[in-house]
Amino acid sequence: MESKIIINGGRPLCGEVTVSGGKNSAVAIIPAALMSDEICYIENIPKIEDVIVLKKMMETLGAEVTIEGNTMKVDPSNVSKWIVPDDLAREMRASYYLMGTMLAKFGKAQVAFPGGCNIGSRPMDQHLKGLNALGAKIDLKGGVYVCEADKLKGCEIYMDVSSVGATVNIMLAAARAEGVTTIVNAAREPHIVDLANFLSAMGATVKGAGTPTIRIKGASKLRGCRYSILPDQIETGTWMALAAATRGDIKIRGCVPYHMESASVKLAEMGVEVIEGEDYIRVNAKNRPNAVHIQTLPYPGFPTDLQQPFTVILSTAKGTSMVIETIFESRFRHVDELRRMGANIQISGDVAVITGVESLSGADVVASDLRAGAALIVAGAMAKGKTTISNTKYIDRGYEDIVDKLISVGADVSRT
Ligand code: EPZ
Repeated sequence: MESKIIINGGRPLCGEVTVSGGKNSAVAIIPAALMSDEICYIENIPKIEDVIVLKKMMETLGAEVTIEGNTMKVDPSNVSKWIVPDDLAREMRASYYLMGTMLAKFGKAQVAFPGGCNIGSRPMDQHLKGLNALGAKIDLKGGVYVCEADKLKGCEIYMDVSSVGATVNIMLAAARAEGVTTIVNAAREPHIVDLANFLSAMGATVKGAGTPTIRIKGASKLRGCRYSILPDQIETGTWMALAAATRGDIKIRGCVPYHMESASVKLAEMGVEVIEGEDYIRVNAKNRPNAVHIQTLPYPGFPTDLQQPFTVILSTAKGTSMVIETIFESRFRHVDELRRMGANIQISGDVAVITGVESLSGADVVASDLRAGAALIVAGAMAKGKTTISNTKYIDRGYEDIVDKLISVGADVSRT
């Protein structure tokens, strides 16, 4: 029986919450551990569904993977396979990182076309362009990418799109390639820097992560290491949205305020108080927010993953807001559910025009993807009355202990 999340909303959320390790860091760094022959300890791993699925995939390849608390131990010494089971690969987007890692380790990989959130076509042409440039031959046979490379040789790769996934996949393969790989127009997200630091800890030489040009000098052998991943940038932003939407006051601990700049600036424009500490952000929203305009862009622009939760704040702001989603072509599927709760939002192409209403009212709603699910949690916490959210499996892919954390800031929430 699919579980549901039930929220009786309409009151300010106040208190302190600690963010977990970053999902998009974890799903890039965990596969990278397979490229060594030694044990890696990866700390601050979030206990989320995507990590569980990734663990299963790695075990089918022969790795020994154990999780104690939030520390994962990866022993890749018996990894002997490079074929990822289709059913597991289709459960998440990041399964395609096993293409880069298995090519790096064995010169072979077989990974089904990945699953992941249905927020657009999500092509892989930049992944293939980069891996081909490094020397891989890749054929799509029956929905499975069959990859082979006699040798991976470093080169310069120009990205037509600053794709996070393609940048990660190329970095992974380049870490064991001969010579230097230069990625031009690379993605600059915090999780790219996190992966670069992990690969460096394993013995690769990675320079320029976080800038549009990344240089990776591959190593013939990569060593085991102990590494703690970054806090989740998008979970941090989700708590910021919950505080603003419920007119609450939440101190978000264990985050990196610098990574949240675009979200913090937008909240300040809305008239919400944002106090930044060394490793925390406090969001104190006493009044009804002002309408603002948001355009999603690659980092350091406003993150597309926060577009959905922030649209909810704007649905009860004073005035009319505009949200332009420039990254994914169908990332407004949460809007239908928000309309069911009384939101007044018009969609035209990649633009949402949001006319703020006094308040939303609770309803039965369905999550269509991970961050749509997060948006519905924000909406349910803000709305007067009871909201029941179905398809919570999407939410569990990316948020650790979300119900307990919500209760700790005063939400009246339960899971069936
Ligand atoms: C990653 O997806 C994240 N997922 C997404 O987070 C996030 O929304 C996205 O980056 C943007 O930040 C993971 O890290 C596992 P992209 P990814 O490649 O790598 C186009 C979440 O909620 N593109 O940066 O798939 C693509 O169509 C998830 O945590 C190509 O054209 O994103 C899109 O328009 C959802 N060709 C744009 O680039 C390619 O080969 C950005 O996509 C690849 C992508």
